[in-house]
Amino acid sequence: MPRHILKADDFDQSLLEALFKQADWIRTAFHDNSGGRDYLRRKYARKLLHYVFGEPSTRTRLSFCSAALHFGMTVEGTDNIEFSSRKKGESWEAMGRVLSGYQPDVIVSRMMKAGDVDKFATYSRCWVVNGGDGDNEHPTQMLVDLYTIRREFSRLNGLHIGVGGDLYRGRTVHSLVKKMMEVEGVTFSFFSPPNLRLPDPIKTMLNNKGIRYTEHTEITPEAISLVDVFYHTRAQDEREGGNMAEPLVIGREQLSWMKEEAILMHPLPIGPGREITVEAENQGCITNLAERDPVFRRVRCFEQSDNGLWVRMALLQYLLDGGLQKMEALEQGE
Ligand code: NCD
Repeated sequence: MPRHILKADDFDQSLLEALFKQADWIRTAFHDNSGGRDYLRRKYARKLLHYVFGEPSTRTRLSFCSAALHFGMTVEGTDNIEFSSRKKGESWEAMGRVLSGYQPDVIVSRMMKAGDVDKFATYSRCWVVNGGDGDNEHPTQMLVDLYTIRREFSRLNGLHIGVGGDLYRGRTVHSLVKKMMEVEGVTFSFFSPPNLRLPDPIKTMLNNKGIRYTEHTEITPEAISLVDVFYHTRAQDEREGGNMAEPLVIGREQLSWMKEEAILMHPLPIGPGREITVEAENQGCITNLAERDPVFRRVRCFEQSDNGLWVRMALLQYLLDGGLQKMEALEQGE
């Protein structure tokens, strides 16, 4: 039976390193002029990806679909649970069993409630990848985020990670913090309104590991000047647990307080409360860093979302090849 990808803990550090290396390899092959893109396009021509999304998505769904299509896979699915048999009362368990019977190789799924993707995966006979379950976890966004940090700093260890916004309900935050806390020498600073602090069970995990962290309710020059990465997030006000009264805004001024080599990340989308200013967002969209106002060269949110394609291609390859060994063979040109 397949081992599904449901949480950050499903990746150990060596698997992460292998996936990041493979993502770099795929990125290079895709852009080379000697047929790499065509090679990738034929790689999994007989494979099928299904997606079942019960919650809005742009990046996760379309980067997985694009990843599959660039590998020549066929893609089919629904992003409208309202028009699925769920409406007639079908359980997630039964739905997962039914869809896997149509012989997809991978199903990517996102659900409104924590734990529902696990239920969907219970009887599935193919790989199920959690594309985000409620306020719980978003393991493939964690891959994107760590891959981005790894590319920017050429390492994960010894970094000071600032995490801002809705730390209570932000599933990308939960997966990121859970995985980064395993990395040697990591330190965290958390920035959130008092009612949206990091959940206690995750703080307990940090305490048990003896990881240093501080909590802040404002973004001050002193606090933000310490971080290597500031990972910001939007208010998840569509979920239960209280509203975000005032977003903690990052713009020109806050960026200027950051270290020269520090970066600003965000899983996107930026929320209606605008935790990143329009100016910073627009500057961040400019791909060529040299064309940006220097203070905005720290903004890496869009490079981060670009990375989603390569790392999800690497993950699909890992799942479809059934392990790391074959992946390495591909890298060696087989
Ligand atoms: C995030 C999500 O859906 O959890 N988006 C994403 O997948 N990149 C973040 C969010 O919705 O705030």
